[in-house]
Amino acid sequence: MSTANETTEPRRKRALSLIQPSGIPTLGNYLGAMRNWVALQDEFECIFGVADLHAVTVRQEPARLRQRTYEVYALLLAVGLDPEKCLVFVQSQVPAHAELAWLLGCCTQFGELSRMTQFKDKSQSHADNINLGLFAYPTLMAADILLYRPDLVPVGKDQKQHCELTRDIAGRFNNLYSDTFVLPEPYIMQNCANVLSLQEPAKKMSKSDSNQNAFISMLDEPDAILRKFRRAVTDSEARVCRREDKPGVSNLMEIYGAVTGRTFDQIEEEFDGRGYGDFKSAVGEAVAETLRPIQDRFHTYMGDKAQLDALMKEQAGKAAVIACRTLDKVKKKMGFVLTK
Ligand code: AMP
Ligand code: TRP
Repeated sequence: MSTANETTEPRRKRALSLIQPSGIPTLGNYLGAMRNWVALQDEFECIFGVADLHAVTVRQEPARLRQRTYEVYALLLAVGLDPEKCLVFVQSQVPAHAELAWLLGCCTQFGELSRMTQFKDKSQSHADNINLGLFAYPTLMAADILLYRPDLVPVGKDQKQHCELTRDIAGRFNNLYSDTFVLPEPYIMQNCANVLSLQEPAKKMSKSDSNQNAFISMLDEPDAILRKFRRAVTDSEARVCRREDKPGVSNLMEIYGAVTGRTFDQIEEEFDGRGYGDFKSAVGEAVAETLRPIQDRFHTYMGDKAQLDALMKEQAGKAAVIACRTLDKVKKKMGFVLTK
């Protein structure tokens, strides 16, 4: 993460993204986000984080949140994010996030936040707890982003609106107080898989689905993976091909292609004349095979919490150096008195 030679070498572009520890990431999170983050770390200067402050916008059981934070952190390392190459930190361990979120909140309009579709959706699904944090969620996300001045923010489509609001807030701040923030681009990853529910292939695969058979958790045992694929919803045609009226089979082909690198034509040929039973077993085995080495590394990391703690601390320290530089600048521009 050295910035010492910024003047002699063109700065590599910086990418930043966070993931909430609201459940064990699914195969969808892996193929649609985490796996691509690993690919990004060689091309960009990358910063990744566990968004635990975002997770408490819905009620969390403390012991569970603590455990999930370790698990998601360990999974980020296990999939191949390398702290020698990029930053991997826990959001709540860098206080500048909460502090900048407050300042940005004072530059964000009630009307803007009311229009966020995620706020509207979550107010419906958690009608008994429509708290200030849930409403202000996008200002915290704006703080996560703007503190590090990234050029790109790789996110899924559902986060695009929050990224656009971040740009609006940053632009407004720059107008009011002079140029301070870099306006980041949302970066919707190309050629990454969009994985659908195994039970209702009209919906995306989600870690919060109440039906356990609908998603593959990244920590599912091989037996569970095979069983869930065997139960996956298909159709009655018994032909492996991609077609709009075959969302279940198309989704399985997408998953199989993503983990084996095969094209849809190759998959169609491979299973020509064979039934869905064979196909589903092959998908299950390929997925289990892909997740196995990740799970092995995950268990090694989880077996040494002291080492995880030390790494988190070191990474948060490095993140804080970048974040505090931005925060101090913002506070100075807004008229706060800073003491040395
Ligand atoms: P979430 O689980 O909704 O917090 O999503 C975290 C990241 O994983 C987002 O950037 C999404 O793009 C990605 N993601 C989540 N679910 C899927 C899915 N079913 N297929 C592909 N990508 C996904
Ligand atoms: N809100 C994002 C999600 O639910 C997670 C997130 C928090 C994030 N802060 C971020 C993503 C900053 C990108 C940049 O997926």
